[in-house]
Amino acid sequence: GLILTAMDGDAHKSMRNLLQPVFMPDTVNRWKETRIDRVIREEYIKPMVPAKGGDLMDFALYFPIRVIYSLIGFPEDRPEQIEQYAAWALAILAGPQVDPEKAAAARGAAMDAAQALYDVVKVVVAERRAAGASGDDLISRLIGVEYQGRSLDDHEITTFVRSLLPAASETTTRTFGTLMALLLQNPDVLERVRNDRSLVNKAIDEAVRFEPVATFKVRQAAKDLEIRGVPIPKGAMVQCIVTSANRDEDAFENADKFDIDRKPKPSFGFGFGPHMCIGQFVAKTEINCALNAILDLMPNIRLDPDKPGPQIVGAQLRGPHYLHVLWD
Ligand code: HEM
Repeated sequence: GLILTAMDGDAHKSMRNLLQPVFMPDTVNRWKETRIDRVIREEYIKPMVPAKGGDLMDFALYFPIRVIYSLIGFPEDRPEQIEQYAAWALAILAGPQVDPEKAAAARGAAMDAAQALYDVVKVVVAERRAAGASGDDLISRLIGVEYQGRSLDDHEITTFVRSLLPAASETTTRTFGTLMALLLQNPDVLERVRNDRSLVNKAIDEAVRFEPVATFKVRQAAKDLEIRGVPIPKGAMVQCIVTSANRDEDAFENADKFDIDRKPKPSFGFGFGPHMCIGQFVAKTEINCALNAILDLMPNIRLDPDKPGPQIVGAQLRGPHYLHVLWD
């Protein structure tokens, strides 16, 4: 199968070169218009509007999976199937459990769901190839990629697409939640963003720096080295703490302040090095569409004073668990 995180060295590099064009702004901006914005606005935000209140995490949990399914190009006219696929994706994500008794059952369910998803994606891949792969959906594009004479077969495309679900869903869910929590807790900043939408992307970048969802990365030292006087022997496992790096006072002035006006500067929120998130432009586009739709359609959105305020929690995949809001 094709799982980028499990690959290394030259094999990983040439696979990244092969896949990268599919995730570049050119393609993603087209998806924004044809798919991402429509799914978020029409299928999620508009139906929520009449309620004038709710928990935004209910929306956050589902839209990233639904967007990926739209990019994959599953038939849009069969919502009950999409619901089934979303349930499978969530079952895969629930696979790792701490409690050993729950773990066995969850692992079994996750493996069944992974197989079921493989089977339906593989059918779509074969259909697209037979149809000449001329669409602008993710699978057609993956069929069309070529790098140094290499292209992808159906099995590789299927396993890669399936591997996107865990990479693309909870990360986006929690990042969106964190961004909204920070904005709702800083109503003056929220108001500025509402009135000047060019600030949306700055707010996203700053949320990703200030409260990165992926708090650390593990790396293995490829050679003996020393960092600030600490010797690290070849082969040692090193935990790189992203939450600390992103608040490094030497790199970011007033690092502990959520400040959307800071000079653009890369943080480690999407990782670093050769494995840096390939989907970061997709993620930022989704979150951009979600925030814009909320600002357009939920006037005066604010924290619900009668419910507990959001808290950004968690050691590994950080974010708020609930976001109780009201709007007019
Ligand atoms: C806000 C949401 C997201 C965050 C915070 C995020 C974060 C990350 C991080 C930290 C890594 C690991 C980088 C490293 O090891 O150095 C990663 C890898 C990856 N991400 Fe994302 N991600 C997000 C959304 C997405 C989306 C939407 C997609 C796909 C459409 C995606 C696809 C991937 C893939 C395929 C990898 C593996 C890359 C490789 O190993 O070469 N991610 N992401």
